[in-house]
Amino acid sequence: MNIRLERPEDYREVEILTREAFWNVYRPGCTEHFVLNQYRSNPDFIPELDFVMEEDGRIVGHVMFSKAELVLNDGSRKPSWTFGPISILPEYQRNGKGLRLLQHALGKARELGIGFLCMEGKIDFYKHSGFDLASKLNIHYHSEPKDAPVPFFLAQELIPGWLRDNGIAEATYCPPKGYFVADAQPEAFAAYEASFPAKEKDLLPGQLPQFCQSCGMPLTSKEDCGTNADGSTNFDYCRYCFKDGKFTQDFTMDQMIEFCSEFIDEVNKGLPQPMTKEQYVQMMRGYFPMLKRWKK
Ligand SMILES: CC(C)(COP(=O)(O)OP(=O)(O)OC[C@H]1O[C@@H](n2cnc3c(N)ncnc32)[C@H](O)[C@@H]1OP(=O)(O)O)[C@@H](O)C(=O)NCCC(=O)NCCS
Repeated sequence: MNIRLERPEDYREVEILTREAFWNVYRPGCTEHFVLNQYRSNPDFIPELDFVMEEDGRIVGHVMFSKAELVLNDGSRKPSWTFGPISILPEYQRNGKGLRLLQHALGKARELGIGFLCMEGKIDFYKHSGFDLASKLNIHYHSEPKDAPVPFFLAQELIPGWLRDNGIAEATYCPPKGYFVADAQPEAFAAYEASFPAKEKDLLPGQLPQFCQSCGMPLTSKEDCGTNADGSTNFDYCRYCFKDGKFTQDFTMDQMIEFCSEFIDEVNKGLPQPMTKEQYVQMMRGYFPMLKRWKK
C-alpha cells in the first residue's frame, strides 16, 4: 500500500474510482466525480493535499482538500479549509484504508499550517481521526438555525487553539461554491456523465432524503419518481409532476404552491403539529425557490 500525490495521468482513473465509491450512496447516482474533475482547476484546490492510495497495481483510494471560509458574526471572513470527496474503491472498503489515507492527509495538512477543518460527513467514520460535532467549537452550518443539531457537520482543530489564536469565538461555515458545480452546470455534468459506462441509478434506504424538485413531495421509492422520455426513471421529480420526459402541468411556481395547498390535509397526516393552509403556503414560498424547477 502506497500513498502519493495525484498526477495528471491518474485523473480519469481517480474519477472512475470516485464515481464507483459514491454511486447510489447518498442519492441516486452521484456527482462527486464531476466535482473532482472541475475542482482541479479551481483556485480553492490544494494540489499539495491531493492524494491517491495504490494497492495491487491500481489506485484504490483518493482524497482532496479545498480552501474555504468562515463568516464571523460581524460579517468579516477568515480563511479556513475543508476536504472531500474522499473515496475508497468499494471492494477495498471497511479494511482500514480510508482511515489510513485520511490520517496521512491530515498529517500533511498540519505540516502545511492548516489549523482547522470543517466538513460534512458521517461521524462514525470521521470520529476515528479526531473529528467531532462542529457545534462544540461554536461553528455553525450555513443552512441550519444556529441552535439546531447538525449531526453531519463536523470539525477539528488540527493545530490546537487555532480558532482562539485567530480570534474566532463563533462563526458560520458555507461550503465552497465548487462543491455545487453539478447543480450550477447541469448540461456540462450530463455531458461529462455520458462519457462513463452507463450505471443504474437507484433510490435506496439510507440515502439522504430526496424530494420532488417541482412540488417538494418526499421521494421514498422508485415508484414515487417520474419518467424520462425513454421510459427510464427520473429521480428529480415525482410521478405526478413529470411523465415521459415532460412536466405534467405548465405551472408557474405560484400556481404550483396554490395547487399543493389543496393537499394540506394529506400533509398534516404526517406532521406531529398540524399546519393551517396559510402556514403551509408560507412554508412553500420559502422552500420552493430552492427547488430545481423554480431556482432562478
Ligand atoms: C467513507 C470511506 C472513505 C471510508 O473508508 P473505508 O476504508 O471504507 O473505512 P475504514 O475501514 O478505514 O473505516 C474505519 C472505521 O470507520 C467507520 N466507518 C467507515 N465507513 C463507515 C460508514 N460508511 N458508516 C459508518 N461507519 C463507518 C467504522 O467504524 C470503521 O471501522 P470498522 O470497519 O472496523 O467498523 C469509504 O467507505 C467510501 O469511499 N465510501 C463511499 C464514499 C463516501 O461516503 N465518502 C465519504 C463522504 S463524507
